Amino acid sequence: MNNQYYSKLIFELSHEGRRGYSLPDNEFKEYDLASMPQNLLRQQEPDLPQVDELTVVRHYTNMSNNNFGVDTGFYPLGSCTMKYNPKINEEICAMPAFSGLHPLQQENTVQGALEVYYNLQRSLAEISGLSEFTLNPYAGAHGELTGLMIMRSYHMSRNDSKRTKVIVPDSAHGTNPASAAVCGLEVVVVKSRPDGTVDVDDLQPLLGDDIAGMMMTNPNTLGIFEHDIAKIAQLVHDCGGLMYYDGANLNPMLGKCRPGDLGFDIMHINLHKTFSTPHGGGGPGSGPVGVRAGLEQFLPNPRVKRTEGDDWYQYSIENTDSALGSISSFLGNFAVIMRAYTYILTLGRENLAQVGPLATLNANYIKESLKDCYELPLKGVCKHEFVFDGLKDKSTGVTTLDVAKRLLDYGFHAPTIYFPLLFHEAMMIEPTENESKETLDAFIEVMRKIAHEAATDPELVKSAPHHTPVRRLDDTKAALKQIVTFAELRQAEL
Ligand SMILES: Cc1ncc(COP(=O)(O)O)c(C=O)c1O
Repeated sequence: MNNQYYSKLIFELSHEGRRGYSLPDNEFKEYDLASMPQNLLRQQEPDLPQVDELTVVRHYTNMSNNNFGVDTGFYPLGSCTMKYNPKINEEICAMPAFSGLHPLQQENTVQGALEVYYNLQRSLAEISGLSEFTLNPYAGAHGELTGLMIMRSYHMSRNDSKRTKVIVPDSAHGTNPASAAVCGLEVVVVKSRPDGTVDVDDLQPLLGDDIAGMMMTNPNTLGIFEHDIAKIAQLVHDCGGLMYYDGANLNPMLGKCRPGDLGFDIMHINLHKTFSTPHGGGGPGSGPVGVRAGLEQFLPNPRVKRTEGDDWYQYSIENTDSALGSISSFLGNFAVIMRAYTYILTLGRENLAQVGPLATLNANYIKESLKDCYELPLKGVCKHEFVFDGLKDKSTGVTTLDVAKRLLDYGFHAPTIYFPLLFHEAMMIEPTENESKETLDAFIEVMRKIAHEAATDPELVKSAPHHTPVRRLDDTKAALKQIVTFAELRQAEL
């Protein structure tokens, strides 16, 4: 239970002269100050809250209690895949040998870190069936952009400059067309069939000598395996295009099926999704990009290389004359790389192959247990996630948003809502492989309870949440009129 007083804004807890710290004497002598650029010197005291130590600790502890995370409760957020993050990952990546590294250190002082980087490149290549990886991109969307730049560089290297279009299914995640547009490519949309998979008949007429390639995720964003993938890859290759795999949905494939074997040429992996690392609010992430044999020279700089002799090996950071140059500062987001490597080593080859089947089992268990209360537009077995199209009984006017808000009252994070865009009341649920049957049962029970409430007392659901620190927000206003500083809040209150 949060304390009302300490839940106030930290500036409201401020009292003139209160201190929760002591600092050593100012070591800057007069001459130091004189030698500094005068415009950088502070002219007056900063306007900071003046609070004692206990107030600070209680304020922030109260604030953290208002937060929801993977350590707080079940997080069925489809597509964004917030999965279990073993604490060993945190311990390893926080070790001073890793956390204290500086990107400008000499190569011979960071051989261990480069070995981690190199080994993860190799592991991802093996897991995905591709030839080589860069770990430099910072997120899935950044990986997509990098991958599309590789695609464009490949065509340009063959003087094939008229390939300016990228095919994207109508079920695609929004970042796919956005990345293509940022890369200067034109987006062509291919329709889905009623079963949710790409309509091959709709695809065929789109193919021609202006197609740079096609972006797909498999299983797609509806959690359905694209069973025509080999045929689709063949058609795209026959017209001279390349296949791009959006690896955000790699989870159910792990150890069972490799994008490289399905005909994909370029892909990214969301390390923060498939290989743990809690993320949210824009970070932290890592979107390594892999390519099939023959495309390695298009990967961005810098690259980590291993050289070996009879009884020695060493790692080096190299820059090639890659057309892409560099797409990030240094070697990417090392802490996420470290967590992913720890996760892969902790699981090992055998357990990694259990991830897909368990994630699939969990998703199907929830789907089958709720399909009598929630509208299931696509029947049959799903992979790691699935989509309901809102409540089955729509007569009460209770929407997907209302159900999502009511879930918060019961201590569950909401699923992804209103995506994919193919269904009006989309509610996308992804339980991930690590959840226990008891957790899934508790979620199912609450979802059934909410469906019952919607039928018997719709206002209760429509006005939810009732028990959260902040009640229902005006999402549009929150997005358009952001208040992120105390000064802005003061301004808004005037
Ligand atoms: C299918 C799919 N593709 C791409 C992305 C983009 O990944 P990121 O959020 O790391 O940029 C997401 C993330 O939500 C996704 O679900």
